[in-house]
Amino acid sequence: MASAFIFLLVPLLFQFHSGESAAAIRRNYYSESCPRAEEIVKEQVTALYHEHGNTAVSWIRNLFHDCAVKSCDASLLLEAANGIKSEKATSRSFGMRNFKYIEKIKAALEKECPNTVSCADIVALSARDGAVMLGGPYVVAMKTGRKDSKQSYAAQVDSSIPNHNDTVSAVLSTFQAMGIDTQGAVALLGAHSVGRVHCVNLVHRLYPAVDPTLDPAYAEYLKKRCPSPHPDPNGVFYSRNDLETPMVLDNNYYKNILKHKGLLVVDQQLVSDPETRPFVEKMAADNGYFHDQFAKAFLILSENNPLTGDQGEIRKDCRFVNKK
Ligand code: HEM
Ligand SMILES: *[C@@H]1O[C@H](CO)[C@@H](O)[C@H](O)[C@H]1NC(C)=O
Repeated sequence: MASAFIFLLVPLLFQFHSGESAAAIRRNYYSESCPRAEEIVKEQVTALYHEHGNTAVSWIRNLFHDCAVKSCDASLLLEAANGIKSEKATSRSFGMRNFKYIEKIKAALEKECPNTVSCADIVALSARDGAVMLGGPYVVAMKTGRKDSKQSYAAQVDSSIPNHNDTVSAVLSTFQAMGIDTQGAVALLGAHSVGRVHCVNLVHRLYPAVDPTLDPAYAEYLKKRCPSPHPDPNGVFYSRNDLETPMVLDNNYYKNILKHKGLLVVDQQLVSDPETRPFVEKMAADNGYFHDQFAKAFLILSENNPLTGDQGEIRKDCRFVNKK
């Protein structure tokens, strides 16, 4: 009786365990199926950075916009087609760029290992390597093995990605839902140490009256960058996030917001809110500490709710779900 029970149970347990570990994301997922996968992504990210430095900036933002919307599943990359509404075409994704270069990374992977490396893993690995190109930390323990979604979640973008003027508590709860604490959220916003903000996301702080939490001289500069109170919503005018080290993922962001030189309302509020301010001060004082916290939170972000096993697919073209 007992031995019959063990006979039944042991294979069951074994199956469950091996099934689970085969499906879960893990480090070096491609070690056998595509041993050079992570190296290839790094080579491509490096080459692209030398052609267009701001590709690296885009890879960092991509990780947030992909992973925060439901899961790290490359749903962000889908084009509008066959009834699919594209996440990257929503207003929250305004300003996102360089998507076409994802195809270059994918092509390099397909050449060496066809149908093997997911677009979701490209989003994660390129974000890791992009951060390094910008002088940021290297996320050593990044896992792979994410599958690509077969659908887009455009309707969920607004509830998953905060708006430029949301409250600190709304922002913190977005991150908490992904297992990222206050310190991690403050560190991730440090991504706004690189890149740019378009005038549509700024003008309400300049017109009709200047936001009193904005440094007056800085506001004058921003008015020159954004001369119209009613910018074309698809317009090209913008200001860089950090005027001193615009292409370095460093703690200058925190120094700037302490000087009331944050571009977005969410950036500036990190200073006025008593829950976030202590972390802003710590990160402004210590770049190494910022990098450690950024890497930690970036890793958690990259593991949000991945699709594994047969929950998704390996897209052949990151812009479209595979044809049946
Ligand atoms: C509260 C959360 C956040 C809000 C409300 C927010 C909002 C924005 C907005 C409005 C822009 C400017 C878009 C434009 O006008 O072109 C932007 C840019 C950017 N965001 Fe965020 N963001 C948030 C969090 C994050 C996180 C967590 C990351 C990555 C870890 C990130 C990375 C970036 C980057 C790199 C850019 C510059 C993009 C470029 O220049 O191409 N953001 N964000
Ligand atoms: C936030 O900005 C949007 C425009 O991007 C605007 O419609 C909305 O009223 C603003 N919300 C607050 C609370 O100021």
